[in-house]
Amino acid sequence: MKNKKILVTGGAGFIGSNLTLTLQEKFPDNEYFVMDDFSSGDYKNLLGFKGEVISEDVSCVNLSDYFKKLDVIFHQAAVTDTTVFDQDLMMKKNVGGFKNVLQFALASKAKLIYASSAAVYGHSNPPMIVGQSEMPANIYGFSKLVTDNMARKYFKDLHIVGLRYFNVYGPKEKHKGKMASQIWQLYLQMKAGKNPRLFKDGQQARDQVYVKDVVSANILAMGSSESGIFNVGTGQTTTFNKIVEILKTATGDNLNPEYINNPYEHYQENTQADLSQTQEKLNYYPAYNIEQGIKDYFKT
Ligand SMILES: NC(=O)c1ccc[n+]([C@@H]2O[C@H](COP(=O)([O-])OP(=O)(O)OC[C@H]3O[C@@H](n4cnc5c(N)ncnc54)[C@H](O)[C@@H]3O)[C@@H](O)[C@H]2O)c1
Repeated sequence: MKNKKILVTGGAGFIGSNLTLTLQEKFPDNEYFVMDDFSSGDYKNLLGFKGEVISEDVSCVNLSDYFKKLDVIFHQAAVTDTTVFDQDLMMKKNVGGFKNVLQFALASKAKLIYASSAAVYGHSNPPMIVGQSEMPANIYGFSKLVTDNMARKYFKDLHIVGLRYFNVYGPKEKHKGKMASQIWQLYLQMKAGKNPRLFKDGQQARDQVYVKDVVSANILAMGSSESGIFNVGTGQTTTFNKIVEILKTATGDNLNPEYINNPYEHYQENTQADLSQTQEKLNYYPAYNIEQGIKDYFKT
């Protein structure tokens, strides 16, 4: 892939920066742009990036002020704090941002790969399957489901792929603070010599996916022959007790969980991605299981 103009929105964020830097390394003969309003992202994530960085809000920018044409847009920008309950803000930024990018992609015939979320499934039972039990439990998940529904209308007109990430963890997530992965939070507690705190009884489980696999899914989506919406996880589910055990091995710390009462009435017990469509249509097979991902993450 050469001489393409590629935009990553939300490129100063966790997933966007991992994606941007990997694209630059793998396909150096393209022109790269990042657009980010730095509402949650951090410039430090982009150290080493050689392209142009535009500080703009994707929900209201006029993209044609900056670009005549783009070949590929990776749309990662969104309000990612799932505890934001301002419904108007979440919809304006997430749905409005997606719509703005979609309209430009349609006009310039750019491929559009965008970040959706497992939050569209709410509290439904695993395995989570695209097209089934999509009942978001918060405004964040709802905003992602609305974008998926909008995207579906253009599958025939445009190369458009939505990727429903499950729980993503890995380097460059530090800036997210309380919104960073549970793996990072537990690691921080253990590094500080504290017992990792888990909700009773630590048997809640999640499909935890390493950011390098999420980047690979985006690159596969760029080359796919069909539009569609796909889950991006590992297809495996790991309890928080097990994560603590793996962290103990990876870090050499020997701290056992402290169990606390769960203040949330409707807490999700288990998430797990059904990957059959992602494998068939995108040829996506995660390279990192939970042990390999955590080992790679905390290797230094
Ligand atoms: N991290 C996860 O576990 C996870 C899971 C499911 C989906 N996602 C989705 O993946 C994408 C990336 O998430 P992340 O984890 O990297 O979060 P992040 O907060 O690190 O990244 C989001 C980036 O978008 C920017 N941004 C937000 N609103 C913007 C706007 N209106 N205009 C321009 N820039 C804007 C932020 O400044 C930030 O740099 C998001 O769309 C998120 O909803 C993430």
